[in-house]
Amino acid sequence: MRPWWEVGVLYQIYPRSFQDSNGDGIGDLAGISARLDYLVDLGIDALWISPIFPSPMADFGYDVADYCDVDPRFGTLADLDRLIEAAHARGLRVLLDLVPNHSSDQHPWFVESRSSRTNPRRDWYIWRDPAPGGGPPNNWISDFGGPAWDYDEATGQYYSHAFLKEQPDFNWRNPALRAAMMDVLRFWFDRGVDGFRIDVLWHMVKAADFRDNPVNPAYSPEMGDMHRVLQTHSTDQPEVHAIAAEMRAIAEANGGRLLIGEIYLPVDRLMAYYGTADAPGVQLPFNFQLIDAPWRADALAEIVRSYEAALPPGGWPNWVLGNHDRPRIATRVGEAQARVAAMLLLTLRGTPTLYYGDEIGIADVVVPAAQVKDPRELREPGLGLGRDPVRTPMAWDAGPHGGFSDGEPWLPLHDDAAIRNVAKQAADPAAMLPLYRDLLALRRTHGALATGDIADITGTDDILSYARTENGECLLIALNLSGGERRFVLPDNMEHPRLLLSTVPDWRRGDEDGDGRTILLAPDEGVILLNE
Ligand code: GLC
Repeated sequence: MRPWWEVGVLYQIYPRSFQDSNGDGIGDLAGISARLDYLVDLGIDALWISPIFPSPMADFGYDVADYCDVDPRFGTLADLDRLIEAAHARGLRVLLDLVPNHSSDQHPWFVESRSSRTNPRRDWYIWRDPAPGGGPPNNWISDFGGPAWDYDEATGQYYSHAFLKEQPDFNWRNPALRAAMMDVLRFWFDRGVDGFRIDVLWHMVKAADFRDNPVNPAYSPEMGDMHRVLQTHSTDQPEVHAIAAEMRAIAEANGGRLLIGEIYLPVDRLMAYYGTADAPGVQLPFNFQLIDAPWRADALAEIVRSYEAALPPGGWPNWVLGNHDRPRIATRVGEAQARVAAMLLLTLRGTPTLYYGDEIGIADVVVPAAQVKDPRELREPGLGLGRDPVRTPMAWDAGPHGGFSDGEPWLPLHDDAAIRNVAKQAADPAAMLPLYRDLLALRRTHGALATGDIADITGTDDILSYARTENGECLLIALNLSGGERRFVLPDNMEHPRLLLSTVPDWRRGDEDGDGRTILLAPDEGVILLNE
C-alpha cells in the first residue's frame, strides 16, 4: 500500500496568521484547533505548521530557543497535544517545522557555547579565529545580507550565521550536538507528530576548510547582498546526506513518519536529497520550480518533463506554488491564472503543498513601511525581498479583522477581506474556494489524479496539457495559460470526453468542429477531461 503522503495533500499554516483565539492579534494553536473542520471540508490530508517553539522571534520562530516546548504566544504543550489529538480524530496528520541549521542566540546551548572557549558546548556551534589580517574568517555572506560571521569580543572569535546574527549555525560535525538534535525528532514523534518539514536542509553542513565562496559573476545589487557570492562551500556539502539518512532512519523506526526537506537547488543536485536505496534521505525534497517558473506553456512542460525524468527510482515527486518566503501565486500570475495554477498543482503527479490563504486567492499585501516586521525587509529595504506581504492574516468572514482576531492583527489583512473571505467564497460558486474544494474532491474520486502515471506532457500554443492514467482510467488536463481563447485538439485516443471540471464554470462551449475532437478553451481556462 502507498504511504499516506504519496496520496495526500499537504497544507502549510503560518501560525501567527491563521486564527487568533485570545485577542492578542497573533494566531495560535487553539485557533488552529478551532479551524480543523474547515481543513477537513477543504479536503486536505495533513497540515504543516511553521515553527511554534519558544523563540525571541528575531526571525519569527525560525530562531528557536527551546526545541521541545511551545512558545507562550502560540499556547502550551497541552494545546499542541490537543491539536494533534483533534487532528488525528478527523483523519488529519500534523507536521511540525524542524529548524536544525541554527538555533536562537538565546538558546541555552549557545549561551554556554559563547561563554568561554573551553565550554563543553563551544564546539556545538561554528567558531573561527579572525582572518590573519583581522576581520571575518572568510567571505561568506548571510542570506539576510552582510557577513555570515559575528565577532564575539569576550572570547575573541567569530561565529557563523547563515541568516541573522541572532541565528548562530550549529556545528553538525560535533557528535554530541548531532545526538541532541536527533533526540528532538524522537521527542516530537513520541508526542504523535507525523513528520517534519526540515528548514534549510541543504545549509546544514559547511565545507570543513571554510574556503572563500566564488564571486557571483551575475550579481547585481537588486538581487540582494547574499548573491554577491555563490554558496558553493557554505551549502550542499556531501556530508549532509548522512545526517538526512540518520533522521530518516528515526522517522522509519517510528512507523514511517514523513520528512520534507526545504532545499533551493537546481534539480540535478536536489535529487541527491532522496538519498540512496541503502541510505534513504528525506521522502520529499521540496520541488520549488513552479515558484520561479516563467508562466508559459512550453517552459512549464519542460519543467515537468525534466523533473519527472530526473527522479531517482522510487523517488516520489512533489509540487508547490508558494510559501511563507515567496510571493503569492495570485500576485505572480493574477487571479484568473491563479485558478489555472490551482488546477495545475492539484493534477500534476506528486504530493502538492498548499499555502494557507491561496485557496481564497489572497494576493501579496502592501505593508506600510511603519508596519514592516520581517528582518529580511528591515535589513535590505525596498528590494522586494520582504516576506510580510505573504504572511498576512487569513480572512474567515466579513467581521472585524476578517474574523482572524478580536484584537489588532500583527500584520494588516488584504484590503478586500470583507469580500475575500472563507464565508463569502463558500457561498459563491464562482469564487476560488469552491474550485479548490472541487479539485481536492476530484483527487479523491479519481485515483488517477492523485497517484496515476503522467504522460503526453505538452506545451504548445499557450496550452499546457498532460494525461493522468491509472487502472484503465484516463484523465486529460488542458490549461490555457493565455488571456485569449485557444483551440485545443484532443489526442487521437480521445473522443467526446466528459468535462469533469473547468476553472471557468460559466463558459458556454460547443463542439467546435463538429467532430468531438476540438475544444475551444475560454481565456484563462483549465479543464479536466475524462476519457470514457
Ligand atoms: C527558511 C525559512 C525562512 C527562514 C530561514 C531561516 O528559509 O523558510 O522563513 O527565515 O529558513 O531559518
